[in-house]
Amino acid sequence: MSEASKVVVLAGATGDLGSLIAGLLLEKPGVRLRVLVRPESMAKVATLREQGVEIVEVDLARPDQERLLDEAVSGAFCVISAIQGGPDIIVDAQLRLLAAACRAGVRRFIPSNFSYNIFGLDEGDNINSDDRRAFARAADETCGDVEVVQIQIGAFLDRKVLFGFLGAFDLGEGRAFLWGDGNAAMDFTTYADAARFTAEVAVDEASVPGVFEVAGESLDFHGLVKAYEDGSGKSVTVSRLGSLADLDDELERRRQAEPDNMFAWLPLMYWRAMLSGKAKLQSIANGRYPHIKPTTVAEYVRSEGL
Ligand SMILES: NC(=O)c1ccc[n+]([C@@H]2O[C@H](COP(=O)([O-])OP(=O)(O)OC[C@H]3O[C@@H](n4cnc5c(N)ncnc54)[C@H](OP(=O)(O)O)[C@@H]3O)[C@@H](O)[C@H]2O)c1
Repeated sequence: MSEASKVVVLAGATGDLGSLIAGLLLEKPGVRLRVLVRPESMAKVATLREQGVEIVEVDLARPDQERLLDEAVSGAFCVISAIQGGPDIIVDAQLRLLAAACRAGVRRFIPSNFSYNIFGLDEGDNINSDDRRAFARAADETCGDVEVVQIQIGAFLDRKVLFGFLGAFDLGEGRAFLWGDGNAAMDFTTYADAARFTAEVAVDEASVPGVFEVAGESLDFHGLVKAYEDGSGKSVTVSRLGSLADLDDELERRRQAEPDNMFAWLPLMYWRAMLSGKAKLQSIANGRYPHIKPTTVAEYVRSEGL
């Protein structure tokens, strides 16, 4: 199949990452973009429709949409999923989409991962990573013919994630929070760079490894704090909160206190996997697409005025 006739199907085009991927695919000559949007979100894709993008209205959460999914992925070179949700979405819905891709003879499927190295974690370390590994295991059994490519990027180098959700920094107070010795290397990539690499993988004619890893920068905690200081010109006070074993205890305490409020404890699951080194990317391959020069932590902080 030549690039001039490539159909790329994207689920999650209304999300933070998916909208960036959509924009980049639209700029690629010869790529035809088709997005899958659930009924209640159709208004969000009015601009994409005006830009000539094919829109398929489908609720991936519904198990009775097989025929619609078959039509939605028909003729596609690659299906990308940038959707977010619990196991009903990440495991069940994505498997239905993968099964449709398999029936249609799609070449490549990029599932919603875009995380740190989920394969380095043990079951229970992080409930979201558990779901993504459950999808990966089931995908292996669903269809051997589709090239499933897990794209891993570390933590999003972003004001909402690294400098927000994760709870690693309180920029208002000029503080960063450390458990353990902070000597394990961690990986950081902007949404924009994750989208750039994903758009390249989506149209790549050559086979791509089943786990494809990229990173804007890899730093340990101390390097991360220094990069923030360099980029912002501000100094940060590091609060040492305890050992990694203390972090386990704190996580357990929060979980028992508020089992149904995952935002009380989920960020610590991510931060623990990073600080312990378990989530470190294993084979960063930025060089596969050398025209992409990913943003470093200091560059991001400077450009955002953080
Ligand atoms: N590495 C990191 O630090 C990090 C951080 C955050 C996220 N991520 C990963 O990045 C990926 C994208 O995240 P994001 O931040 O871009 O998410 P997001 O902004 O919340 O977008 C989620 C997308 O999923 C769609 N969606 C949710 N439920 C759906 C359903 N039932 N059926 C169909 N579509 C559904 C949403 O569509 P609607 O418009 O219809 O709601 C939206 O387009 C995910 O894999 C996530 O795990 C990684």
